[in-house]
Amino acid sequence: MNIIPQFIAQNADWFYLIGAVLFVLTLRGLSSPKTAVKGNRFGMAAMTIAVITTFFLAEGPVLWLIIGAMVLGALVGMWKAKTVAMTQMPETVALMHSFVGLAAVAIAVAAVLHTGEAHSTIARLELFIGCFIGAITFSASVFAFGKLGGKKWAKTIGGGWVKPLQALLFIAMIGFGVLYFVTDDLNAFYAMTALAVVFGWMWIAPIGGGDMPVVVSLLNSFSGWAAAGIGFTLGNSMLIIAGSLVGSSGAILSYIMCNAMNRSLLNVLFGGMGTGGEAAAADDGVAKTYKSGSAEDAGFLMSNASDVIIVPGYGMAQGRAQNAVKELYDLLKEQGVNVRFAIHPVAGRMPGHMNVLLAEADVPYDDILEMDEINSDFPSTDVVLVIGANDVVNPSAKDDPNSPIFGMPILEAAKAQTVMVIKRSMNTGYAGLDNSLFYMDKTMMIFGDAKKMVEEMVRSINGTGH
Ligand code: TAP
Repeated sequence: MNIIPQFIAQNADWFYLIGAVLFVLTLRGLSSPKTAVKGNRFGMAAMTIAVITTFFLAEGPVLWLIIGAMVLGALVGMWKAKTVAMTQMPETVALMHSFVGLAAVAIAVAAVLHTGEAHSTIARLELFIGCFIGAITFSASVFAFGKLGGKKWAKTIGGGWVKPLQALLFIAMIGFGVLYFVTDDLNAFYAMTALAVVFGWMWIAPIGGGDMPVVVSLLNSFSGWAAAGIGFTLGNSMLIIAGSLVGSSGAILSYIMCNAMNRSLLNVLFGGMGTGGEAAAADDGVAKTYKSGSAEDAGFLMSNASDVIIVPGYGMAQGRAQNAVKELYDLLKEQGVNVRFAIHPVAGRMPGHMNVLLAEADVPYDDILEMDEINSDFPSTDVVLVIGANDVVNPSAKDDPNSPIFGMPILEAAKAQTVMVIKRSMNTGYAGLDNSLFYMDKTMMIFGDAKKMVEEMVRSINGTGH
């Protein structure tokens, strides 16, 4: 009866090796929308192998606690996966990172308390580093969750006192950590952990909305390193490998996103841009004029165009317009229009946000192009339809050296012959900046909810025929 558990426990290293290879294949699969589903399956298989192997390796486990926690976790996970709205995904991801951080802290505290005897030098180093990274990840991710979800308690803070306080907290945290490392004093360990929790919060709280994507990706990386740290504490090679993969892929993603915004990581983390204060600075008080039109006008223009580029942004996600957009895409294609999608790396509120929504609506991958692939095609494009995007098409990033987003690469929608923008008002986007694209002669604003407006466009094209 015990043959299978015994076999797994005796060959645990082999199972972990298979799991590690599957995790690598997961990342490979996730690198393209075409292979993402396969990548996810690899991930599920790897995680199943990792959990089962670790389960049978445990010495004297308290079964009801482990199984109870696993069942509860699985039920909450399944419920969340089924009910969470796409628009709530970024904050959900941040919340999940906070759990990884909390788990790292809980395991580090358990390991510190466990033996009651002095730990080896290397064990103290692992516990010290794993625990403070975990604690920072925990509180910073909870803040990111609140901030992305628009919670009242997650307010961006600012002022001259912030940086000195951050420095003080950081130095004190490291000081207590070193004290623990040198003396094995438990009180120093707890003080370090508490300071790390406060530091995590104070570190993220001044970072403005526009920089939150990088922060979330960086916290993803941190949660990976925290998990790897726990792996060392528990002597579990699978956790070290999986944690390192998450840690390094998150770090690479943060780097790519910083490049997409033409910023350095240090500038994002300590520069304090995009905190909302720029909105007032950008408004020079001169009343600017813009043109507005109807969905019917837009439908007519697009069905008569030969090339159309659709630029989706956060508003498409917020308005859940992706299926209506697919209908519009199909209809225009049927009429012989060359329709493609242009995706900015930080459009929406999470990495790959637009790709996920368009994949959900079954838009063919070949017509979804990244910024670098499509930017040179805008000048020869008849019509650009911007659906709930704002910052990612803001020309001031190129033209206005005083703009806080100057230098950030954008989708060059302004270069097309005609631009149409669906949004509900003249309100700013996430970075809180006015957008000169909306006031150009070639631009027509179409005011309304993204889904409703696109549906009206579909109806008008269908009605007029072609
Ligand atoms: P934003 O600049 O945030 O603009 C979105 C626009 O959509 C808003 O101006 C809003 O205008 C409109 N909108 C909202 N709901 C709508 C609805 N139901 N129907 C129609 N329009 C609607 O979006 P973006 O261009 O996608 O840029 C993304 C921004 O978010 C960047 O600043 C980026 O740095 C930041 N960010 C990105 C991420 C990631 S990883 N992608 C994560 C966090 C933050 P109205 O209110 O007038 O409708």
